[in-house]
Amino acid sequence: TFRCAKALQLTLAVIKPDAVAHPLMLEALHQKILENKFIIVKSKDIVWQRQDSERFYAEHKGRFFYQRLVEFMSSGPMRAYILAREEAISQWRELMGPTKVFRARYIAPSTIRARFGLTDTRNTTHGSDSEESALREIAFFFPEFSAEEWMERVEPAFRAGP
Ligand code: TYD
Ligand code: MG
Repeated sequence: TFRCAKALQLTLAVIKPDAVAHPLMLEALHQKILENKFIIVKSKDIVWQRQDSERFYAEHKGRFFYQRLVEFMSSGPMRAYILAREEAISQWRELMGPTKVFRARYIAPSTIRARFGLTDTRNTTHGSDSEESALREIAFFFPEFSAEEWMERVEPAFRAGP
């Protein structure tokens, strides 16, 4: 059952091209989402043009990894999810682990990035880092989706149970 005391929160999770390229890794990450009691609100497979990458990561423009980041994120298919859960944003980020793969392996070896990340750039997954960025990123990937309507109409129904 999805009954819970606190409101469900929405986040955007993305399985990046390095992980989607390996069918078993995509499957394992999908299982990980379900095992950790996230509700999959929506998902889609998507391939970015370079300008989509640049727009999504505009906040990182000018940093040393920006070029390789935008190139990588438009290099192949990705799987995007809108996930719902109590504390979805922090819970998904905790499962992913730290951004940098060697730091992840050192301080959080059981996390997704520690186990499956290839480099600091090819680090398997993305997760929103705040409510504000979750709303922005959900709208970026799923422009047809209304988070407001979901929170108003669907979230109470999940919490009430069948
Ligand atoms: P950032 O928002 O700092 O990390 P996170 O994905 O954990 O929110 O950075 C966005 C992406 O930029 C990150 O997932 C991979 C890439 N990146 C690098 O390639 N090298 C780096 O040193 C950093 C900090 C990020
Ligand atoms: Mg970030």
